[in-house]
Amino acid sequence: MTNNHSQFAIWVSVGEVAERTGLSISAIHFYERKGLIHSIRNESNHRRYPRVTFRILSIVRVAQNAGYTLEQIKAELSSLPDRAAITKQDWGRLSAHWRDDLNQKIEQLTLLRDNMTECIGCGCLSMEKCALVNPDDILSRQGPGPHFVPQEPSE
Ligand code: FES
Repeated sequence: MTNNHSQFAIWVSVGEVAERTGLSISAIHFYERKGLIHSIRNESNHRRYPRVTFRILSIVRVAQNAGYTLEQIKAELSSLPDRAAITKQDWGRLSAHWRDDLNQKIEQLTLLRDNMTECIGCGCLSMEKCALVNPDDILSRQGPGPHFVPQEPSE
């Protein structure tokens, strides 16, 4: 339980970060070692995190679920001028960077979902339509992989 004194403090302990984000303390330290979040030491040499760490870690988790690597997320976060005082404009810039890529991923996943029952030219020849679209796997001459699905997103 968070005590009243620190409830709205700008700097919070690792326990408070864990309590608010639902992450384990070891996970928080892992993200810190990876350079995604930062702490300072107080006079008792205890780590203190800026309160915005709650939001940063939430975004890290969502971005990971969306398929971004920690390195990609770190690169985006590194573009922020001051992670202890991230403004609405900073968040806007960050989300704008991801918006186009996320839209592309959504489009690709939608195409994949809508064409799951169609031949994708992968060489499996497992469906009736494959014999029409890809007889004897002629598409393999054009290279590996499926030939009728969107390309992987660029990095
Ligand atoms: S689905 Fe694999 S070749 Fe048609």
